[in-house]
Amino acid sequence: MTEKYLTLVNIEHPIHHPVERETLVSVSEEHPGILMERTAAEALQELLADIGGKGLIVPVSGWRSRKEQEKIWADTVADRGLAFARKYVALPGCSEHETGLAIDLAAKAPDIDFICPEFPRIGICQKFREAAPYYGFIERYTKEKESVTGISEEPWHFRYVGTPHSIRITEQNLALEEYMERFAGKDRRSVSRRSYLPGRMFRGMQGISRMYASGKERI
Ligand code: DAL
Ligand code: ZN
Repeated sequence: MTEKYLTLVNIEHPIHHPVERETLVSVSEEHPGILMERTAAEALQELLADIGGKGLIVPVSGWRSRKEQEKIWADTVADRGLAFARKYVALPGCSEHETGLAIDLAAKAPDIDFICPEFPRIGICQKFREAAPYYGFIERYTKEKESVTGISEEPWHFRYVGTPHSIRITEQNLALEEYMERFAGKDRRSVSRRSYLPGRMFRGMQGISRMYASGKERI
């Protein structure tokens, strides 16, 4: 279990050190300009492959430099107003996107809103959402936790925290803020053994036994 990916970033916990560029990779060959931290990008690729989501789910926004986040903030305020920007755009320095551990996703469509992409709670997008914790991702900004995160519901924004944290956070219905406060640094030995086998467990549950038979098993 690693805690390397548990960094809390929000308005009260700004980023002090910019991410090192060499730790970032493209999320896929089809989207060379969308970058994430390497482990997070690999987990995303694996998840998309396992659920058959490649080509149906598209990455919209991954790592952002401070400058990019500043421009997104300024453009959103100008185009859609301050109240809207406050709901859906983190202040520069306070965005998880600057860590390389966050990804915004959309259901493939001709027009995708960059700030609020459609990632519905049905079909392949919901399949992704349900599988995500087994690959280290959490749905970061839920309706229920708006008062905790300070950000409005963002069904499209996923944050890599690594397993087993992602599974525990989801099972216990916690915001990352709450998880960090209540559990980080404590209770580590109570993590069940199954949590160490995330992708394998998910595939087993889904009955995707061909993954094993075809030798594609990667965990
Ligand atoms: N949309 C999220 C909150 C961000 O700008 O980081
Ligand atoms: Zn996002």
